[in-house]
Order: sequence, then C-alpha cells, then structure tokens
Amino acid sequence: MNALQRDLKRLVPMVEAAGAARVAADPHRQKLHVQPPVGWLNDPNGLCQIGDEYHVFYQYGPFDPTGGVKHWGHVRSRDLFHWERLPVMLYPDEPFDCHGVYSGSALVEDGMLYLYYTGNVKRPGEYDYIKQGRGHNVCLATSRDAIHLDNKRCLMYNQDYPAGLTCHVRDPKVWKKDDTYYMIQGARTKNDVGQALIFESSDKINWHFRSRVESEKPFGYMWECPDYFETDGIKILSSSVQGLEGKEWADRNVYQSGYFLVDGDILDSYKLSPYHLWDYGFDYYAPQSFEAEDGRRIHISWMGMPDCEEYTNPTIKDGWQHCFTFPREVFIKDGKVCQKPVRELDAKKQQLQDVQNKLTQSGCPVYEVNVDEIKENHFQAVLSDELILDYENGRFQMHFTTKSKTFVSAGRSLRYAEVGTLENVKILADTSSVEVFVNDGEFVFSTRYYPNDYKIVVHSPSAHITFDKIQ
Ligand code: FRU
Repeated sequence: MNALQRDLKRLVPMVEAAGAARVAADPHRQKLHVQPPVGWLNDPNGLCQIGDEYHVFYQYGPFDPTGGVKHWGHVRSRDLFHWERLPVMLYPDEPFDCHGVYSGSALVEDGMLYLYYTGNVKRPGEYDYIKQGRGHNVCLATSRDAIHLDNKRCLMYNQDYPAGLTCHVRDPKVWKKDDTYYMIQGARTKNDVGQALIFESSDKINWHFRSRVESEKPFGYMWECPDYFETDGIKILSSSVQGLEGKEWADRNVYQSGYFLVDGDILDSYKLSPYHLWDYGFDYYAPQSFEAEDGRRIHISWMGMPDCEEYTNPTIKDGWQHCFTFPREVFIKDGKVCQKPVRELDAKKQQLQDVQNKLTQSGCPVYEVNVDEIKENHFQAVLSDELILDYENGRFQMHFTTKSKTFVSAGRSLRYAEVGTLENVKILADTSSVEVFVNDGEFVFSTRYYPNDYKIVVHSPSAHITFDKIQ
C-alpha cells in the first residue's frame, strides 16, 4: 500500500463520520435507494453478483457534495433492497489514476473480482483537457474477497488507442464470450463525433484494439459509459450521449442515456437502430447493467444529471447529493425493451388501498401506486400538490406546478414522451424521488423531488388503482 492510499484510507472515514449527523438530519434522505454517506455520488460501476451477494460500486466524491476527485464507493446486498456500506474500494492514489478513479465494470472469474476502470490524469499546464493534457488510462484492480484490494495496475494508455481520437476514451465495460474477453469503451473523435471502441484479449491483461462501433450519421460528440448485452435474444448497445442538440432534443435533458438495437454482429458487420431513451425524466444518466445468476438483466442508473444548470438538489446544503435508481429488470415485451423495478420489491409491499376511479393517500413517503386498465387515456396523478403526471395530446407528461428552485421541483419543469395509448402506470416513490413506469415500463420517467408533506391523488375514471406502502 502506498503512503497516499494509507492516508486516504484514514481520511475518508473521518470525513464520513464528521458529516454523518448533518446528513442524517436531512428529511430528504432516501429509504430504498443507494446514496452516498456524505459528499457526491454519480455513475454506478462494477455491478456484479458473487455467490448470493450483489456488489455495487459508485463514483464517489467524499470531500465535496458538488463533485471532487472520484473514488469507488462500495455497497453490497442480498436482496437488491437493503444495502450494506463497505469501505471505499478504489482511491485515486497512483500516478495513472490521480485525478479520479473513473467509471468501469466488473468481471468475476473463479471467485476473483476484476475491476476495469478509467484512470483520469490531468497534466498541469495550459490545456483544453479534451484534445490535449489528459490521460484516460485503462486500469485493472483485483480482489480475492471483493472487499480488499490486492493489486492495481495500468493496462493501456491513450497511445494504445486507435488514431483520430481526443484524450476522451473511457468507461471500459468487459465481458467474456467463448474463450475471448471483450472490452467496450466510449470515445470522442478529434472531429467531435461520439463512438465506441471494442478491444479484445485472451488473458484479461493484454488488450488489442479490434473495431469501432459507429452510428450511420454522427450522433453527439461523446459516448460515455457504453454497455453491450443481449436479453431475450435482442442485442442492445447502451450509451450515454453528450452533444445532442436542437429539434427533438431541445425539450430534454442536457445529456441523454439510451440504446441502439443491434442488427447483426457488433464485432463484425451490424446496423444500429434509431436511439431510444432509457428514461424520459429529469434525473437519469450513465446506467450500467449486469446479468444476475438467475438470468435477469439488472439495470441501475445514476438518478442525477451532470452539467445541469436548470435544476438542482437542495441536499447539497446538508452535505450530500444524488442517488441511484431503484434496480430495474430489463425485459422484452412484444419486441419492445421494457423496464420494471426488480421483483424483490414485491416482498416489501403492504397494500393499503385497492379502489377504482380515484385514490387519495397522505402521510406516506415510500410507496408504489399501480394504475391498471386505464380508459381512453384518462389519467392524472398529483404528488405533494406540485408534481403532476398526466396524459395530454398524445403525450405522457411529468411536470411541476412551479419550477422555482425553492419548491418541490428545485427548478425542474416539464418532460414528456409521445405515447400512443396509455394502458397502465406504476409509480415508485421514495422520500425524494419518483420513478414512473408507463405501459409496463416501455416508457420510464425518473425525477428527484423535495416535498415537505407527502400526498398523492390519482384520478383515472374506471381504472383499477392500488396503493402499497413499502417497508
Ligand atoms: C459519466 C462520467 C463518465 C466518467 C465519470 C467520472 O457521468 O462522466 O464518463 O467516467 O462520469 O465521474
């Protein structure tokens, strides 16, 4: 262990202990969602299952609720519901990752945990840190017990990537097929075009560039956090895209997270479908998935938005910011990619109401509401008087009555998706978040919100409406 790692290992728990009382006093701490003990959280990293435990790591800035240098925080769970906090797994303590242990993924083999991540390095000087001055290195950390780090090393530097790229090449996601290991990374070309790069290896250590994955026409300037997987026979390339502007993107978030369906072989000849968003809400970025041992594709995202000036999170004043989405299962229904909260949630629900037409419930912050058999698109739900979910002119909308930064919205306004016929709506609410699954999760909307009093009123003539408290 080097001296910096030794000191950071002592310092981070001290900072966590010093901030704990202030964070715990915040009424907007979440009950179901992974959140940082203090400071800042962004992307989910290294999602995996080892035996009967799920391990989740997160981009963690313990020293600053508005960001700071990134570590890998660590939690584990047996039921994807209760999360146990473990010591920080990776510190920015080597020359190859000293400005941040950036995002990456996990590979579990023979009980060993292999964590591939981007070591971020910023050289001192007058650089733009896009075309010059930055190192984005592929690094590998290994652990025998998934808690203690055995070893960290750097496997690739920018000079090992193909020509024509800026310094921005990051977020390795690794998988194994037959006897070969594959790695996909996100990249920004010198012409400001986003793409993904595929590398291959026969030993997990020595990697060779294999191919680029590109859209037919340029699509954004940077693809972050790429993920490639197959589920129910459908091939999905997920990526968080920066630089989509104008027309259909004008009313949306500053950056997008979505996926292309892959027709053909991503390693050879393929065609990408149009891009579909994973989520149409305000707070959703950089999702990652893994396959659970029972075959489910589980998907977790950062419930936040980088570089966002439009809205904020008042938890900053209490010393913390951001959380993850509740884990979701990705599945295919009638050829469409859908999402739903993991089924482990069902065991935690207690039904309080089962009604038709109209439902009102007050005083319960953590709940699930299901509205089924919606007739003629007639639906409206109002949460804590200020967050409205409704259907108008072919659109499902999520909007706030006021976008004042001091109200429930903390600056959020309106998001929508074109939805042909509204069939059903599931609302999963926690103390300061709402995730809405429309038409069996074909469309999803996630947002943070900051009520003082909890209340939901649903109107949907002739529909079947249930309210379940979650505990
Ligand atoms: C996405 C991202 C990644 C990067 C990480 C740094 O939110 O920008 O591309 O690895 O966050 O925290």
